[in-house]
This record gives sequence, structure tokens and C-alpha cells, in this order.
Amino acid sequence: AKHTICLIEGDGIGHEVIPAARRVLEAMGLDLEFTEAQAGYEHFLETGTSVPDRTLETVMAADATLFGAATSPSHKVPGFFGAIRFMRRKLDLFANVRPARSHPVPGSFEHVDLVLVRENTEGLYVEQERRYGDTAIADAVITRGASQRIGEYALNLARRRRNKLAVVHKANVLPVTQGLFLSTIMEEAKRNYGDVQAYDVIVDACAMHLVRHPQSFDVIVATNLFGDILSDLTAGLTGGLGIAPSGNIGLEHAVFESVHGSAPDIAGQGVSNPTATVLSAAMLLDHLGEAEAARKLETAVDTVLQEGPRTRDLGGSASTAQFTDALIARVK
Ligand code: NAI
Ligand code: MG
Repeated sequence: AKHTICLIEGDGIGHEVIPAARRVLEAMGLDLEFTEAQAGYEHFLETGTSVPDRTLETVMAADATLFGAATSPSHKVPGFFGAIRFMRRKLDLFANVRPARSHPVPGSFEHVDLVLVRENTEGLYVEQERRYGDTAIADAVITRGASQRIGEYALNLARRRRNKLAVVHKANVLPVTQGLFLSTIMEEAKRNYGDVQAYDVIVDACAMHLVRHPQSFDVIVATNLFGDILSDLTAGLTGGLGIAPSGNIGLEHAVFESVHGSAPDIAGQGVSNPTATVLSAAMLLDHLGEAEAARKLETAVDTVLQEGPRTRDLGGSASTAQFTDALIARVK
């Protein structure tokens, strides 16, 4: 096969949305081979590890991976670590890429077409916390190297789009850490990307501008925590969690996944919306150089979202299978 794609269902509705996305991909007539691997909380409960070595090997052997959904308990479970966070670190998936594009569904703004690029390896997510009595401290690590590489990724992406990059920061309050992130990217923009209009936006003002004028944004780059929060906001601008896709992208490997979680409230009922996973599969195809197939898939999704049938989360009554069948009829 031309491309090998590793599929990981994970937890909860991952068992529904991944098989749905696979059926859609298989219907497209591309030269694809699928491999499968296990990861997540259910796998941890069965075996004591959330990401076995075999899974890492299968992911590394594939050209790209599509991941369903992961449960992560909000209480501390001894020996458990989050599958996606583990893979981000192990495979050096430094860019978390989250596009937000208007869709014909209730609650979506019109004419939004932006991509939020979140630094995926450092910042406050180095998970270095400690406590001294009633004082708790968390480290935020910012390096020139990681800022440079996420900056270059975002600048290259802007160059392929509308040539605008918003560099989001809080350097007014944190001039040492946030200042290093900001200056590294602005200097790189000035030095090598004269064709890209790079400008800085303070994170709180960015949140307001995103809600008031989301159409004015093209590419946005941010440190890990700010990017995490703002990307849920941008998902909310264009139809919500059932729709929003993402990619965790490194130089060697890439793992694509919906922004939503394992949805335990509806898991097992066959009513989950596979759109976010299917749009993540479209990002995956783009990543593999199959741009034409990716556009075809995105167009088919919007046609079915517009004409129906819709799943329950979007006000319809279609099952996962009925929605998927309608999508397959459009991509054949
Ligand atoms: P969630 O995203 O799983 O669900 C939130 C709400 O949206 C639920 O009512 C759910 O039914 C609905 N929903 C989500 N995806 C849907 C879909 N594809 N189709 C139809 N409805 C959908 O978030 P929640 O409930 O807060 O978390 C559940 C578990 O997922 C937790 O263990 C959490 O830690 C984990 N999670 C993992 C994420 C990740 O791996 N990136 C992101 C968010 C949550
Ligand atoms: Mg999040």
C-alpha cells in the first residue's frame, strides 16, 4: 500500500468513531493499509499500562496514526498516565494543530477559517508541581529551541494560507518566559518570513477578539496552556466538540485525533458523532500529501452536515451508522 495508517480506538466512543472513520476512508478508493493498536484507560485497567511498547512500535511503523478518544480519570490512579500526553512526549509531537472552519451547523459563526498551533511539549505541561505546606508551585519551562521550532511550523503554515500569524503571549506579566517565546518567534519572522505579517496579541485580548471577530484570524501560535484553552474556544466558534479535529505533529511521526473525549454518557449506544474523527482523518490525508482526497472528504462532511441526516448532538436523530452511510455515499 502507498500509506499505512495505524488506528487506535482508545476508550468510550472511540470504539464507535474509529470504525466509522475507517469505513469512510476505505470507501474513498485510496491505496491505504490499516494497522491497529491499543491504548487508553480501558487498556490500563486490563493490563496495567495505558500505552504498551507494541503500540508505540505500531505507531512508529505507520505513516500516520488516527486516535479515537481517551478517558482520563480526574482523581490520581497509581501507575496511570494519559495515553495521548505520553505519545506526544515519546514521539516528540511538538505541534498541536487545531483548525477551526465554519460548518453548516447550529451555533457556528460564518466565514471563520483559522488554525490554532499550540506548543505541545513544554510550558506549564512539564508537570513539575510541588507543595510546601499551604503553598503550591508549578514550573513553566520555555526554551528558545522549542519556541523556534513551533514558530517556524506556524510561519510555514501561514505562508501556505493567508500570510498572517498572531503570536499569543502574556509577556507583559511574564517577560522572562513568555518574553522568550514571543521574541524568538518575532525575530524568526523578521529574519526569514518577510512575506508573513506576524503580530503579537496578549492572550486575554486574543480571547475577546476571537469571540468578536474570529474571521480576522488566520494562523495563531501559543504556548501550551494558552493554546489548550484558546483551542477549545475556537472549537466552540465553529460548531463544538463533536466536530473539532486536531493533529499532534512531529518531524518523524503524527497522531491525529478529535478534540473531544471518550463521552462516557453516550458511549456504547451507537449515537456518537464521528465528524471530528473523520475531519481528523482529512488532516491525516493532507499530512500524507493526499490534499485532493482531504478536500473531498471535508466537502462531503459539510454537505451531509447541511442536508442531514444529523446525529443527536447536532439536533438530529441519526445513529453513528446512518450518518456514516450518508458520508460514504458522498465520497464514493
Ligand atoms: P467529552 O468530550 O468526552 O464529552 C463532553 C460532552 O460532549 C458529553 O456530553 C458528550 O456526550 C458530548 N460529546 C463529545 N464528543 C461527542 C461526539 N463525538 N458525539 C456526540 N457527542 C459528543 O468530555 P468529558 O465528558 O468532560 O470527558 C470524558 C472523558 O474524556 C474524561 O475522562 C476526560 O478526561 C476525557 N477527555 C479526553 C480528552 C482528550 O483525550 N483529548 C479531551 C476531553 C476529555
Ligand atoms: Mg483541551
